[in-house]
Amino acid sequence: MRFLYIFAVITWVLFFVIMAEELFIARGTKEEQYQALLPQIEALVSGEPDLIANMANVSAVLKAQFGFLWVGFYLVKAEQLVLGPFQGPLACTRIAKGKGVCGTAWERGETLIVSDVDAFPGHIACSSLSKSELVVPLFHEGEVIAVLDVDSEQLDDLDEVDAKYLERMLKFL
Ligand code: SME
Repeated sequence: MRFLYIFAVITWVLFFVIMAEELFIARGTKEEQYQALLPQIEALVSGEPDLIANMANVSAVLKAQFGFLWVGFYLVKAEQLVLGPFQGPLACTRIAKGKGVCGTAWERGETLIVSDVDAFPGHIACSSLSKSELVVPLFHEGEVIAVLDVDSEQLDDLDEVDAKYLERMLKFL
């Protein structure tokens, strides 16, 4: 009996170690990197129904692949965006509808690409290191339920390629 218990524990530990090591960091163009990454993200989240757990892993994978300054989620709760799973420096916890890049993407229900955050009226500077930003809404039954926010330390670093693949990626959640 004890042997079976130890065997089960070892199997679970190995399972999680192998899972953690499975991420393949692709090289090449941004498009090639996303093409290698998307099936991995789909596989990662498909077996897990918990949204927060999947958001946490998606943030970790995007940070590991692209080294973004900040990448993570805000969730719609009681007519506000509330900070969810993320990777990067600490961030503001609540954003009102229509405020900042995140609140504007939520209000409009569309992806926003901001090549220079200082040129975006009402941009909320959680980190002075952030220079460009991209926000993608996550929909459920036609409603925005969260946004994915990506911040880069470089100007004009996030573009239509990021938008296209990140929108596709959110459909896995
Ligand atoms: N810059 C965002 C706020 C969130 S942080 O970047 C993590 C905005 O203007 O909505």
